[in-house]
Amino acid sequence: MRTRTQVGIVGAGPAGLLLSHLLALRGIDSVLIEIRSRAYCEARQRAGVLEDGSVALLREAGLAARLDRQGLEHGGIYLQFDGERHHIDFRELTRGRTVTVYAQTEVVKDLIARRLADGGDDAIEFSVTDTAVSSLDTDRPRLSYTDASGVRHEIDCDAIAGCDGFHGICRPAIPAGLQATWERGYPYSWLGILADVPPSTDELIYAHHPGGFALHSLRSPSVSRLYLQVDPDEDIANWPDDRIWAELSRRFELPGWTLHRGPVLDKSITPMRSFVSAPMRYGRLFLAGDAAHIVPPTGAKGLNLAFADVAVLAPALEALLHGDDKPAAAYSATCLQRVWRSTHFSWWMTTMLHHTPGADEMEAQLQLSQLRYVVGSTAAATSLAENYTGFAVPPAAS
Ligand code: FAD
Ligand code: PHB
Repeated sequence: MRTRTQVGIVGAGPAGLLLSHLLALRGIDSVLIEIRSRAYCEARQRAGVLEDGSVALLREAGLAARLDRQGLEHGGIYLQFDGERHHIDFRELTRGRTVTVYAQTEVVKDLIARRLADGGDDAIEFSVTDTAVSSLDTDRPRLSYTDASGVRHEIDCDAIAGCDGFHGICRPAIPAGLQATWERGYPYSWLGILADVPPSTDELIYAHHPGGFALHSLRSPSVSRLYLQVDPDEDIANWPDDRIWAELSRRFELPGWTLHRGPVLDKSITPMRSFVSAPMRYGRLFLAGDAAHIVPPTGAKGLNLAFADVAVLAPALEALLHGDDKPAAAYSATCLQRVWRSTHFSWWMTTMLHHTPGADEMEAQLQLSQLRYVVGSTAAATSLAENYTGFAVPPAAS
């Protein structure tokens, strides 16, 4: 079947979903295709922390009704090391800036519901196969896929947005010689659990411990989200729930404080990687979100970067469709400035807080010195706070 749209979007993660909505607000048609089912996209456990700028963007785009009711505003985090827990007060350090705890699963549910309500059942094609993009260096790039009922589609587009995550097909469609990549793997992974138990803390705890990093996050007043640093090739089968809770209790241990335990609803292991690919444009293909860059989750930046990219991309595509290539030409460089800042911050948080297997005794001393500096110096704490709460994102309507 041969059809036409203005923007073909590959991937219904946060980047693709928000982009299709921002384009619709500008009166621009898009087709959004996704290899997974709707249920799978809505259940995939991932991020939990939204920067100030991401919340503002969702509000301006009219997507924050449930976020405003259920999101939990946090004015700081705890850094724990050397047997003590220290508070970093974002509000005080950044003139009132905060972050909001609202799960990516909920963001994705809100975005999908809104796209289907505004654009009809065809606004998103779930469970497609054999996605391909072609003619990218012409002004009629083509998006092809087979829908869930087996019909092959060929869509002529004005532009294509590759929002298909790190393992997608869009980035590899760019000729290798035109792409520069930077990559760093880390010698550890995160074992994450979702637990049906009220959080044991009022704000997130990032814990440095000789046995490895641990993070206490949350999803709601009754559901906790916790992470443990584990070996990169660790098998989840080696981690029965009791062992996970015992290790979490050990790494968060503090006199007079107790980690509450509860039923584990979900558990998985995620590798850690920093990756940047540039430029984020090839002809009429534009990459956004994890398709172009990955950060380790320690800085809580990945979802926020995906949102920031599409906030820049939507007006750039609008201008392109009206014959002005300038904002589209600036898209990659504009986004990469934020990407590299977040890449550095995420690397810094990660290497300050994790134990490197096989590292000498000096590593821990350098980390502890840095942590003491961060909690003891207003200048250092302010740097963490302004990076964590994030930098301004272009408004939805610009
Ligand atoms: P994705 O969410 O990966 O979406 C891409 C979509 O494309 C997927 O639905 C995929 O199925 C689809 N797709 C792939 N290939 C194709 C194809 N060929 N055709 C069609 N569709 C395709 N970020 C934060 O900001 N804060 C946090 O606190 C945070 N914590 C995290 C914790 C963990 C454990 C993990 C794993 C990640 C975390 N992140 C966090 C990162 C964040 O989840 C990602 O950066 C975010 O999902 C990126 O969104 P995206 O839309 O770019 O990519
Ligand atoms: C989460 O809640 O999933 C989360 C929070 C903070 C991070 C990473 C993940 O740095």
